[in-house]
Amino acid sequence: MSIPFIDLKRFEPDFLDRWAEVCREVSAATRFVGGPDVSQFEEQLAAACNVDAAVGCANGTDALQLALRGLGVGVGDRVLLPDATFWATFEAVVNCGATPLTVDIDDRDLQMDFDLFQQAVDRYQPKAAILVHLYGWGSARLDDYRDFCRERGIHLIEDAAQAFGVEWRGQSIFRHCQVATLSFYPAKVLGSCGDAGAVLCNDVELAETLRRLGNHGRTGHYDHGLVGWNSRLAGLDAAYLSLCLEYLPERIASRQRAAKLYRDQLAGLALRAVAPPAGYIENGYLNVTLVEPDDRDRVEAILKEHGIGSGRTYPTAVSKQSGAVGSLEAAIGGEKAHRLSQSVLNLPLFAHITDAEVDEVVGVMKQAFSHQPSTSA
Ligand SMILES: Cc1ncc(COP(=O)(O)O)c(C=O)c1O
Repeated sequence: MSIPFIDLKRFEPDFLDRWAEVCREVSAATRFVGGPDVSQFEEQLAAACNVDAAVGCANGTDALQLALRGLGVGVGDRVLLPDATFWATFEAVVNCGATPLTVDIDDRDLQMDFDLFQQAVDRYQPKAAILVHLYGWGSARLDDYRDFCRERGIHLIEDAAQAFGVEWRGQSIFRHCQVATLSFYPAKVLGSCGDAGAVLCNDVELAETLRRLGNHGRTGHYDHGLVGWNSRLAGLDAAYLSLCLEYLPERIASRQRAAKLYRDQLAGLALRAVAPPAGYIENGYLNVTLVEPDDRDRVEAILKEHGIGSGRTYPTAVSKQSGAVGSLEAAIGGEKAHRLSQSVLNLPLFAHITDAEVDEVVGVMKQAFSHQPSTSA
């Protein structure tokens, strides 16, 4: 059987009919920009994430830029971010006129290394930091990050593009954030029918500033108290996302089940099937399998031969991207993010993937590793 890396078409039996109805209603009322669908979704989102406010916007990259701008980060300010993340995290800092510095990762949880981060703060005195909750969980040191940044007066933005639905110490990962950002790119755990994003926070004044920045700095229809831009969430996206929220518990449960099945069944092979650190309930966003860098092409080729898709999230560390030259002030730490980029192999994982599909992938992986002694990649 052929199994894609990601299949976005696994809609529940009644989903497309319900979406068609919603589409008709929103379109008939021309609720395309702003309006009740956006407000309703923002309220549902804030409740689902256990935060005081949610502000919808055009995409996850804009969400980061809104958060940075809303916190007053701009020209001359330094911002720390992990060396392992999607390029948008870096772009957002540069697009705000600020100076990015990357910090290497901790190879246990694959998130930014807290000890290195503390050293970097002492040395570089950043105004803000972006902690990325990568792969469907977060840092084992999340509380340390929040406490340390609060004590030092550093704004901590949590890039949670991949973390919708993640729980940390028994509650939503967002509960005690200063500000967090989400992407609703269709392939995300909560994905829209186009590009969309949101900023979450527990400060209603900040939420108001974010809302203004993303709506041309408006204080009245033709009154502009700030220079912002247009980053509004569309009505159809909001309505689609509200509908998806109803199906999300089952979608997340199916992802979590597959993520665990992979880990259980791949144990003992010459690879590392990465698990979230203690304290987390993952959302099952991605399978993260680490193989020996020299062996990755071979394993991918075997999967491909059997019609199985796979991913490399992400194949290049931020500090090694050619676009970083000229903007990156420093890459702090060693080469762990680089090693991760050379070892990472993501197996198919998406909402409503079946046990039979996971079994099939595992069977092919077992074949691929049948003559290799187990090791920790
Ligand atoms: C960690 C991370 N940050 C930021 C983004 C950017 O989100 P968007 O594509 O919605 O702009 C993504 C999306 O892939 C992401 O994974």
